[in-house]
Amino acid sequence: MSAQDHQVELVAIVGSLRRASVNAAVARAAAGVATAARVTMHDISDLPFYDGDTEAAGLPEPVERLNRVVGAAEGLLLFSPEYNSSLPAVTKNVIDWLSRPPKVWDGLPVGLVAATPGQRAGLGVREHFTTMLDRRPMRVFETLGIGSYGDKLDADGELTDPETLIELADYVDRFAQFCRDGAE
Ligand SMILES: Cc1cc2nc3c(=O)[nH]c(=O)nc-3n(C[C@H](O)[C@H](O)[C@H](O)COP(=O)(O)O)c2cc1C
Repeated sequence: MSAQDHQVELVAIVGSLRRASVNAAVARAAAGVATAARVTMHDISDLPFYDGDTEAAGLPEPVERLNRVVGAAEGLLLFSPEYNSSLPAVTKNVIDWLSRPPKVWDGLPVGLVAATPGQRAGLGVREHFTTMLDRRPMRVFETLGIGSYGDKLDADGELTDPETLIELADYVDRFAQFCRDGAE
């Protein structure tokens, strides 16, 4: 099997805890349309807030699990809402834990997709994400914004808009290539 045939193992983490999260629907759609990557969702609903005392007392099991899953992946894709023009606490909390020892994300490719009801397609969260991680030791990929999501979901809240699915598949496959390029 050539390196190009190999499906890149990506972990997807959703920065929204809502049952009907649109960003979770986008993550599911990404897992369905990707051809160059296998996208596995990782649930972080039991991840505690970062707290230095908790960390000093020994990493809780959900943090150990996060480190294990992200450490084993070839790339990390965050699917995040925009809150108040920036990252929601849920997304930021994942980043805060991952930035701490054992720092399993050193050298790891990281991308972010943001879906919002408005037309700006999460420009604020995407810009803050890129700026924030610029000097970190992981490899930051470009971001993808999906705006006006109300027009792109079906009655069950799943992402079904054909153009958006093509855009998403292209993004994930290019991200997979970015992961491969760094591994060579
Ligand atoms: C506290 C809060 C702040 C928000 N701020 C923004 C914002 O700055 N820009 C935006 O486009 N949407 C904003 N929204 C709307 C979210 O984009 C919308 O609720 C989205 O569906 C959340 O993602 P989810 O469906 O994955 O949970 C905000 C929502 C909440 C609850």
